[in-house]
Amino acid sequence: MTITLDSFRLDPPVLLAPMAGITDLPFRRIVARFGAGLVVSEMVASGEMLTAKPSVRAKARSELGLDLPSSVQLAGREARPMAEAAKVVADMGAKIIDINMGCPAKKVTGGASGAALMRDPDHALRLIEAVVGAVDLPVTLKMRLGWDEGQINAPEIARRAESAGVRMIVVHGRTRMQFYEGRADWGAIAAVSEAVSVPVVANGDIVDAPSARMALARAGAAGVMVGRGAQGAPWRLAQIAAALYGAAPPKLPKGAGLVDLVSEHYEAILGFYGEQVGLRLARKHLRWYAEVAGAALVPEMMRAQTPEAALALIRAAFSERAAA
Ligand SMILES: Cc1cc2nc3c(=O)[nH]c(=O)nc-3n(C[C@H](O)[C@H](O)[C@H](O)COP(=O)(O)O)c2cc1C
Repeated sequence: MTITLDSFRLDPPVLLAPMAGITDLPFRRIVARFGAGLVVSEMVASGEMLTAKPSVRAKARSELGLDLPSSVQLAGREARPMAEAAKVVADMGAKIIDINMGCPAKKVTGGASGAALMRDPDHALRLIEAVVGAVDLPVTLKMRLGWDEGQINAPEIARRAESAGVRMIVVHGRTRMQFYEGRADWGAIAAVSEAVSVPVVANGDIVDAPSARMALARAGAAGVMVGRGAQGAPWRLAQIAAALYGAAPPKLPKGAGLVDLVSEHYEAILGFYGEQVGLRLARKHLRWYAEVAGAALVPEMMRAQTPEAALALIRAAFSERAAA
């Protein structure tokens, strides 16, 4: 099964979720190399995008070096800056633009963007129409089930978004008020799948092939999106794709291969952000790799002050371990 968005085929329909501070270009490149139908950037604030701050623009970079479509996600609350930012992102090479209507963070919803847009569907629609009208690229939407249990309006918004030209809808099966608590309700996504004819993608708590299979079935979805399940396991989407869609199974790195992968990711982070910021940002990825591979994470690795020290510790920690 494939999701088609204009000339882009999201094949297999196993997509990497946007995650702020995580799905930067170095991580997306590695996930894409193992195999995924689409990778999505972390959210980029439309207002900041227009200020041309280099660190913000870097979030919207999407040159994967592979023949795979890359989507850039925009967050914002006003139609005009969103439309302008969409043009900038398109000029930078994005192939697909995603609108963030799911972020629950107070910093974001307090500014009436992210999931807060779901409380005001008329306003949300004006924003969607502005973005769709601004670019000649497929525009997709990522949202939650609604603001809270009393306002489950994802099906209604999806229907209206489809009429406005949105080409694919991802639904995280929680309300905004749930944040990340409880379990994602994949069954509740089915009402969205029934409401529209564009592809609907299920998201939330999909971490392996069995959960992906169950989410697809319950949601009646055209594909799945995986976020936290790929942390420390950039091969996870490819494993799911192999089990569900018969894609070639990924070659799981072990021993020296795992050391090479983690080291490559580490060096890519340092190259992308510079050494000072990179050393700090890389730590969470090292922690996740260690958790997934069952490696002992020595405190020195978290405190390493030079790349050479960190790389030596990576070698010691992962050379006897295997991806899982
Ligand atoms: C650290 C973190 C950052 C996130 N950043 C974004 C974001 O920038 N844009 C967005 O739409 N969702 C964001 N999300 C939500 C994820 O895309 C996804 O919907 C959610 O984590 C549920 O999927 P999962 O259970 O597979 O992780 C973020 C989630 C996490 C944990």
